[in-house]
Amino acid sequence: MWKGRFTESTAAVVSDFTQSLDLDWDLAPWDIAGSVAHARMLGSVGILTSAEAEKIEEGLNRIRSEIVEGTLVPTRELEDVHMNIESRLIELLGPVGAKLHTGRSRNDQVATTMRLFLRDRLLNIAEGMERLLAELLRNAEKHKDVIVAGYTHLQQAQPVSMGHYWMAHFAAFSRDVSRLFFALDSLNECPLGAGALAGSTLPLDRSFTASQLGFPRPTRNSLDTVSQRDYMVDYHSFAALFAIHCSRLAEDFVIYSSREFGWLLLPDAFCTGSSMMPQKKNPDVMELIRGKTGQTVGHLLDLLITLKALPMTYDRDLQEDKRGLRASLNTVGQILEVLPSLLASVDVDGKRAVEGLEDGFALATDVAEYLVLKGIPFRDAHSMTGRLVKECIARGKGLFALSREEWKEVLPEAEDDLFPMLSLKKAVERRKTYGGTSPVCVADQIEYGESALATLRTKRSEYVRTVEPGR
Ligand code: ARG
Repeated sequence: MWKGRFTESTAAVVSDFTQSLDLDWDLAPWDIAGSVAHARMLGSVGILTSAEAEKIEEGLNRIRSEIVEGTLVPTRELEDVHMNIESRLIELLGPVGAKLHTGRSRNDQVATTMRLFLRDRLLNIAEGMERLLAELLRNAEKHKDVIVAGYTHLQQAQPVSMGHYWMAHFAAFSRDVSRLFFALDSLNECPLGAGALAGSTLPLDRSFTASQLGFPRPTRNSLDTVSQRDYMVDYHSFAALFAIHCSRLAEDFVIYSSREFGWLLLPDAFCTGSSMMPQKKNPDVMELIRGKTGQTVGHLLDLLITLKALPMTYDRDLQEDKRGLRASLNTVGQILEVLPSLLASVDVDGKRAVEGLEDGFALATDVAEYLVLKGIPFRDAHSMTGRLVKECIARGKGLFALSREEWKEVLPEAEDDLFPMLSLKKAVERRKTYGGTSPVCVADQIEYGESALATLRTKRSEYVRTVEPGR
């Protein structure tokens, strides 16, 4: 394509090194969509006759089918998806085909192709996130009244509702969805017309091209347009934190389903066995979810480092943006395939879940707060209850096992109104502060969650509708 200025042809080793076909050939549908929009725009402003614009569009449609049928095989000498398609168009149409690249550079072209591709993928991810959130809501409703141990430092802390636990992950994944939509919004401008870097001397109508592709507007600065990949960073930021959230959930599952905890029941269909130890049931899916986090975070770092210190504007380094993006999208897609179905079949052994809480020490805070309501300063109440726990341990008894006499002896402030509060159920029910673990508060969270999910569904379908022309 640039032979004019050169006296030597490109060395074979250089073609191999610089080609990006292994990363971009399957982006052809989006590249063609961008080209069709560009050709229509050239026709609409009179740079092409309408007959020429139509011929180009027909040619591009034909190439699309050739690619689907596998009859058009790209060559490495033509470097990337963009030049392979353009060169085929010229082969098909001759001089008319050679007019397509008018007022366009691969720099604004590749940015457009990538945005169209990513927009499509992000909308699929949003759908997967909806499934994930829906399963969490279902589990929260199902386990609203199931009591499990809540941990800090992975040490028993206070009893909580399992529904509350599910809603905690719901909260984290909801924030991820906001970041996902931030990435969508940040990519949703049309680069075409920015040219190589400075725009064009030709009277291009950038708004026309943008609307053809379902972008609400063209990008505002041509130098920035070909130079930046911030929207990809925004995607990777979403993906990295999403993977971290998945990994934390996975870690919980591994722990709670282990023999020693044993109250989270993973379905057989989502576990694997051991080749040697016949008794084993391993949580490999959760471990692999946890194990994919490093790559996902790595792809964010990879792109940030690629971008660091790149001189304004386009630099070939940017071609490498695709590698990590593709890998990360695959990983996120895989997680969203498996995790919602796993959540749909996970269960809790409610009896086993409270076994570890039977000594009642997890209600020590409740006792201290009882004393606070009797007018005792919290710090004093805390140490009085601490002494009570120490005494229990010395006597080899749990809090629930103390007789009324023993209570009087160890904590004289304990009156009859304390004892009805001393059950796991009461402990959970009484934590009614906004956002707390009481089933009533969990029900509020679920109600809010349902409406947040409905809003998200509307937002996605609205997005799908407006971007339709570019899909
Ligand atoms: N294959 C290139 C990429 O993915 C396309 C843009 C090349 N532009 C250029 N000026 N060499 O970034």
